[in-house]
Amino acid sequence: MSFPKEFLWGGATAANQLEGGFLEDGKGLTNADICTGGSKNVSRRITPVLEEGAYYPSHEAVDHYHRYKEDIALFAEMGFKVYRFSMEWARILPNGDDEKPNEKGLAFYDGIVDECRKYQIEPLVTIAHYDVPFALMKKYHGWLSYEMISLYERYCGILFRHFKGRVKRWLTFNEINCGTMPVGNILSLGILNEMERSTSFMEQKDNPAWRFQALHHQFVASARAVLLGHEIDPENKIGNMQIYSCSYPHTCHPDDILKNQAHNQMKNYFCSDIQSRGYYPSYSRRYFEENQIRLDIKEEDLEILKKGTVDFISFSYYMSSCQSADKKVLEGPGNMIRGIVNPYLEASEWGWQIDPKGLRYGLNDLYDRYQKPLMVVENGLGAADKIEENGEIRDDYRIEYLRQHILQMEEAIRDGVDLIGYTPWGCIDLVSASTGEMAKRYGFIFVEKYDDGTGNFARRRKKSFYWYQKVIRTNGKELV
Ligand code: BG6
Repeated sequence: MSFPKEFLWGGATAANQLEGGFLEDGKGLTNADICTGGSKNVSRRITPVLEEGAYYPSHEAVDHYHRYKEDIALFAEMGFKVYRFSMEWARILPNGDDEKPNEKGLAFYDGIVDECRKYQIEPLVTIAHYDVPFALMKKYHGWLSYEMISLYERYCGILFRHFKGRVKRWLTFNEINCGTMPVGNILSLGILNEMERSTSFMEQKDNPAWRFQALHHQFVASARAVLLGHEIDPENKIGNMQIYSCSYPHTCHPDDILKNQAHNQMKNYFCSDIQSRGYYPSYSRRYFEENQIRLDIKEEDLEILKKGTVDFISFSYYMSSCQSADKKVLEGPGNMIRGIVNPYLEASEWGWQIDPKGLRYGLNDLYDRYQKPLMVVENGLGAADKIEENGEIRDDYRIEYLRQHILQMEEAIRDGVDLIGYTPWGCIDLVSASTGEMAKRYGFIFVEKYDDGTGNFARRRKKSFYWYQKVIRTNGKELV
């Protein structure tokens, strides 16, 4: 048993990290557009008023807005069967709640969808990838307001109708469980707790009660989108998307086991339990009580949650970490969800611990829990690539990372998991979400764009480009 014949090999990106085309053709400002660049050691800043002289990486990103045909041709050359990308709300509705959609915004995404279809690449659209129109952040305090549910539903309706028959797979919110953490305030919920001054991206003022209320609104919005999507086109398949942050107890001490269980419940299962089972899990009650979180939940919301469960489960997987009940054990760096360093694992240059077996564990874990098809829609190694004198980029470290993860996906399929696709992250180099830098590259395609703002945007095939091409051609059989 190996990868099924129709397995969806591809790659993934997000509008705000890729497109550029800042305010072009009527696009409105978004949460990403007010975040400056940062680095491994320097946090990005959130500036509610754009500052003269500050560097905002999303404004140019890697200029996909003007080069999408070239980029999709390269994806086709690798043999992609699927391409995951996001549509930006404020490109289509500049203020988020405009009466009429911006035709030029829709035309841009028509171009991407049609280009994909030209090469028989199936589009997989993330409706909101860390994307909130800035106007809605100011007017409604982002997802804290109940109003956002119908505004999002309206936006989804525009997409479902416009792309009917051309896009059939959708994800409602990228990494929705980012909202269980303070960094989710700006990134996924569009809550700006300080409107008057610039603040640190990593240390935002946080109100957990607000955050979970906003998250509740996203659950209801996601469920309404599922219902609407099915109504408009019964062929639509609509999935959730979350971070799966594989977590182990730091020791076999029962306190560590319990600590890890609680961590998994609120970080790895909470959102997908609601989006897939259709109701709030019992363990969340105690968490809310102990954290003084009282949610305002309407009776009708609970009905919608029950009806609007997702068709498939998708998630990002980069790393694993550990949990300890001992407060003296320190956390290490990592993706949005963090934990304690595992002495058995090595880490990337950015400190994210590399754990391919954690992916097999996660696939089994989620499939056992939900019994729905799974898709790994993000995975990859952020690394500093170098162009050799002869122009080559020998990213063997990336090939090895991906190879090991693909081997574990194959193991999971043999374990009985219904895994339908794999879209490694940042298939073309793009701006990092957590640090806002270009130096942290994930792509099979190198983009000549650097953190000091220089670069001519030229695209170059890395060694991994040819390797992944072979992986796809042999349906995962040839991995060396
Ligand atoms: C996920 C996000 O958290 O990980 C992406 O969905 C992000 O938007 C990716 O880019 C990798 O993280 P980073 O911080 O290295 O860009």
